[in-house]
Amino acid sequence: MKTVIVYYSRYGNSRVAAKLIAKQLNAPLHRIEVKKRKNVMTSTFTSLFGRRPKIKTIQLDPESWDFMVIVGPVWSGRPAAPLKTFLAETRLAEKKIAVFFTHTKTDIHKRPTRWMKKVLDHFGARLVAVSGYNIGTKQHTVLKQRVWDLLSQLPPQVIPSADWVSNRKRNKKSSLK
Ligand SMILES: Cc1cc2nc3c(=O)[nH]c(=O)nc-3n(C[C@H](O)[C@H](O)[C@H](O)COP(=O)(O)O)c2cc1C
Repeated sequence: MKTVIVYYSRYGNSRVAAKLIAKQLNAPLHRIEVKKRKNVMTSTFTSLFGRRPKIKTIQLDPESWDFMVIVGPVWSGRPAAPLKTFLAETRLAEKKIAVFFTHTKTDIHKRPTRWMKKVLDHFGARLVAVSGYNIGTKQHTVLKQRVWDLLSQLPPQVIPSADWVSNRKRNKKSSLK
């Protein structure tokens, strides 16, 4: 299965999570960038009222992937507005999607997951896994656990083979010598 990781991050938390996931899945990482950065108040309202900020185009040939992990923050109890623009501008039909949220107080398994499922259904894609990291915990080990939680929900074809993992470890050790 050809996997890609796409993330949006304003303050860097989702970027850290996305990098970890990309490393574990040995998959390319793409960043969603807004054309114009808005202040927090405007961003809150943009998300609350379902508006879509303009984003820079990500070159993603639909043939080049069939599984995507989307990583990004929760804003106003929903997936952050730039993620919404990305979903609306990307060909998602027939694809499988996993989502990893970074958040503080919102229960990601409620509104953010419901919203994501509804939108992906609308575009003909399927949500197969959801996890997230509450940044309030401020512990990298907890982030890692949450990433493992996501990985444990993924279809087996997405997980790199044991050979790949042991080769990576071997290469790492020999580069340290
Ligand atoms: C505009 C805005 C609105 C937010 N609203 C929520 C919210 O409703 N629920 C929540 O759990 N966290 C909320 N947060 C916190 C972010 O989800 C959290 O800080 C996240 O880790 C930021 O990700 P980033 O560092 O990748 O930008 C909000 C943050 C911003 C900037």
